[in-house]
Order: sequence, then C-alpha cells, then structure tokens
Amino acid sequence: MNVTVRGKNRPYRTVTFDAPRNHIRLIEQRLLPHTFKIVAPRTFRETATAIHNMTVRGAGAIGATAAYGLAQGARAFRGSNRRKFSSHVETVYTVLKAARPTAVDPVNAMNEIRRVMAQGKSVAEQQAIALAAAEEFANADVQHCARIGWHGAKLIRNGMKILTHCNAGWLAFVDVGSATAPMYAAQAAGKKFHVFCDETRPRSQGATLTAWELAQQGVAHEIIADNAAGHLMQRGEIDLVIVGSDRTLGRTGEVANKIGTYAKAVLAKRHEIPFYVAIPLSTIDWNLRRGRDIPIEERHENEVLGAWGVTPSPKSKVHGLKSGKRVYVRVANPTSGARNPGFDVTPAELITGIITPVGIFQPTELWPRRRELGFTG
Ligand code: MRU
Repeated sequence: MNVTVRGKNRPYRTVTFDAPRNHIRLIEQRLLPHTFKIVAPRTFRETATAIHNMTVRGAGAIGATAAYGLAQGARAFRGSNRRKFSSHVETVYTVLKAARPTAVDPVNAMNEIRRVMAQGKSVAEQQAIALAAAEEFANADVQHCARIGWHGAKLIRNGMKILTHCNAGWLAFVDVGSATAPMYAAQAAGKKFHVFCDETRPRSQGATLTAWELAQQGVAHEIIADNAAGHLMQRGEIDLVIVGSDRTLGRTGEVANKIGTYAKAVLAKRHEIPFYVAIPLSTIDWNLRRGRDIPIEERHENEVLGAWGVTPSPKSKVHGLKSGKRVYVRVANPTSGARNPGFDVTPAELITGIITPVGIFQPTELWPRRRELGFTG
C-alpha cells in the first residue's frame, strides 16, 4: 500500500526479499505507528526470531516470511551433496515452523515450496526453485487479498459502521490485507463508511497497526476499547463485522483468530449483526478435524501485565515519524501473574460467511467446495 514516510508517499510491501544479499526485508511492526523502519534478517535463524518476536506478524505476512526464510536458508547452503542439503532444509523448515504455532500459512507455504523444490535435479536448481516459489507465494498472497476485496466490497453499503478486530490489514499480509481488502475496495468504489478498530489488548494491534493503516489510506475510523463493542452493538452502532483468521478448518469451518474474536462473534450473533471472516486460501487447514486441536500460542505474561508506548515529544507528528522514547510500563498489580492465550476459536455457527479469493462461502460449505478452494489431497 502507499504510505507517507518522512514526507514521501510511496508503495511498500510488508515483506520483500533482497536476492543479491540473501536478506529478507521487513517493516518493523513493533515500532509502528511511532517509527517506520525496515529491518533485514540476514539468516534463516534471524528470520525465525523476527517471526517469533513479532517484528513481522499476521498470518499471511509470517507465511510469506517463512517462505522467503526457507529460500534464504536453502540458498545459504554451500556444496552439492543433495543428502546434506535435504537435511539442512529440514532444519530450516523446523526452525521456521516452530517460530509461531497457531497460523497455518507458514506451514502451507513451506510445504508447497518443498514440494516444488523436489523437482530440482541439483542443489543449485533446488535453491533457485525455492526462491522462485517463495516469490510466487508472496505474489499469490497479494492477488488473493485483492480478490477478497473484490468479493467482500459488495457487503459494504454507504453509511455502514464496520467493526474489525486485531490487524488483518496489509501489515498482516504482503499487501492489501484480508479484512481490510473489502474496505479498501469499497473506498475505491466511492462508498462512505466508518470503521471501529478494537484496540486488541494485550498487544494492541488494532490501536497501533489497523488504525495507522486506515489513517494512511484516509478511511474514517475510531479505536474502541475491546470491551466497548457490546455496548455499540446494543445501540445499533455496528452494522457489520469483518475479521481475519490465522487458521480456518476446511473440514468444519471453525476459525482461529486473535484472542477476543470469539467474544465478538457471540455478541454479533446476539445482536443479529453479520459476522464475516476474510481469508486467503493459504489460511485453510484441510487436515485438522476439530478446532480444539488447533495449537493456541501462549505468550509471555508481561504483555497482559503492562503495555508499550512512546513518551510524549514536542516534535511528535500525527503519522508518528518523530516521537519520544519507546517504553514498557507495568500496569497490573506487581505481585500478580497473568495468563496470555494469543488466539481463540470461533465455531462455524457464529460465522455468517467466509470471504475467500474465489467467493463468499458459508463455513460449512468449505469442505464440499474444497476443490474450488485449492484442496489437492
Ligand atoms: O498475533 P498476531 O498479531 O500475529 O495476530 C494476528 C491476527 O490474529 C490477525 O487477526 C490474523 O493474522 C488474521 S489476518 C492475517
């Protein structure tokens, strides 16, 4: 998407690959919206760390980063012994896969890359295939999100108030985003609407990332406390909910997404508000048979016990390119601990529809329509 950084408006992708240097280039999302910075992990282990510590986050973005990370690791191998190379690639895959457990996009992306790499007859050929396949995954992610926008825009009518949770915007993908794609497409079609961004504690991806994205694109929006949605729904102030997903079960239509999504789906059902989930095909898990089996990431308690922000600065600007110091402050009682599950699972019966690049489906239609949706098993 086009963003204004240090006074210059230009397009960025969340994740790109610098082939001559074998570096991945990432927008450092932990610093947004206060500082815009590109970082460049130089090895697959550094890439895994960037996924783990959430320099890059969001299912599609970590999918593309893992894809490039696999290519990066494969390309760093020296020699021509195919057995040693395979064992090295297995290590790269295992390290990247372990970086974050809930989103299925990294696993789907890396499995596909390994499948096509097997066609290469030499180490050099497989290295070249790995990079081409990673580029293909990243480009497909952009195309999928654009198609999600095309299909989802028809759900948005003039004057609507839309709730979204966490960040399923372009920062969570390579570009465009999933939940935001229908919004950007509706905006391009001249529709006027208003977005409520759940702040999304504990890491505040809604307040920091989604709000920054929407501000950059000129979409009318307000941040709300996570607990405010029920009140606004009860007063008729929310017409539509669109969220993303980190893993959607193709067999059941259950949706894993950022913690708090399930509560919003229950509230939407109570108030008869349509609740949609937007996903590229790489977010579908065709193997798992029940939502209870989705690995839910448990994160550090400090995320719940405190918060990050920047200190005020006389020089600070709205789009935050100059600001004070980034600090963590303890909020909670000093002697208390915390539980911090990062994701939850929304059952199919609470979901009105799943917006995919090939159309909008009811959650229970995914399995019967699996061939259209890319199932190859
Ligand atoms: O912990 P995060 O910030 O990686 O979680 C991201 C979300 O839950 C998004 O809503 C999700 O990835 C769906 S859109 C890719």
